[in-house]
Amino acid sequence: MKESIVSYWNSGAFRYNSGVERFLKSEKGTAGWKSLFSEYLGTAPLKILDVGTGPGSISIPLASMGHMVTAVDLSDNMLDLARKNAVASNVIVDFRKGDAENLPFDDNTFDAVVNRWVLWTVPDPTSALREWTRVVKPGGRVCIIDGNWYSGRKTFVQKVWKQASRLYISIRERRNAWKNIDPEVIQDLWSTHANRPEDDMVLFQNAGLSDVQVFMDVNQRAFTLGDHLRMGHWGPTFLVMGVKPQILKE
Ligand SMILES: C[S@@+](CC[C@H](N)C(=O)[O-])C[C@H]1O[C@@H](n2cnc3c(N)ncnc32)[C@H](O)[C@@H]1O
Repeated sequence: MKESIVSYWNSGAFRYNSGVERFLKSEKGTAGWKSLFSEYLGTAPLKILDVGTGPGSISIPLASMGHMVTAVDLSDNMLDLARKNAVASNVIVDFRKGDAENLPFDDNTFDAVVNRWVLWTVPDPTSALREWTRVVKPGGRVCIIDGNWYSGRKTFVQKVWKQASRLYISIRERRNAWKNIDPEVIQDLWSTHANRPEDDMVLFQNAGLSDVQVFMDVNQRAFTLGDHLRMGHWGPTFLVMGVKPQILKE
C-alpha cells in the first residue's frame, strides 16, 4: 500500500508543485500560515522536523521565519522540487529521504514535529504518531494540519464546488486536476473511515502526548480567497497539537 501511495505522489509531484510554487511566491498566500505557526509554535527559533514535506510547502515558510528546518519525504521527485523551491526562496532546509513511520533520527532530536496534509495518507497512523513523538524532545510539540478528505458525506454544494474547483485548477495551473489516487487505495486508507479530528486526538493520546488540543479555524486563518475557491469544498482544515511529557508512558 505504501508503495502505491508513494508512487502516486512521485508521479504527481510536478502537478502538485505548480500550486505550491505559486503559493511560495505569494506573500499573501504564506502570511496566514506563518501567523498560524507563530501562534501555535511561538516566535523563538526552533529545531523543526516537517514530515511529508512535498515540494517544501510549509518547511520553506518555516525556514524563512528563522527556524532550523529538517524535512523528509519518501518521494524523490517531491524532494528534488523542494530543493529547487528552497533555492528560489533563498532559504536553507535540510531535505532528506525518509519514511514518516520509520524516521532516520535519534530520539529527542527536535523541538517540534509538524506536518500538513500528510497523516491522512500514511498507512499506519498509530506508528506514525509514535515515531513523531519519539523524535521530539520532552516538552516539545507534535503539530499536524489535516482535513476530512474522503471521509463523511459530502453535501450537494460540496460535490458541485469540487468539480468547479477542478476546472478552475486545471485552467489556472495547466494540469489535469481530475487525476487522483486510485479509488481502491482511498478505500484502504484509515482516514477514509475515520471520525476526524476526534480520532486524531485518540492517536495523539495513545502516542503518549499530553495537553492535546484541536483547533478548527485553519481555513479562516490561513486560506486566501484563491485557496478557498480551490480547497474550501473539502470542509474545515484542523490543527491538532500535543506536548511530549518529560516522562513518556509506554
Ligand atoms: C498532500 S502531500 C502534502 C505535502 C506538503 N506537506 C504540503 O503541505 O503541501 C503529501 C506528501 O506526503 C508524502 N508522504 C506520503 N506518505 C509518506 C511517508 N510514509 N513518509 C514520508 N512522506 C510521505 C508524499 O510523498 C507527499 O509529498
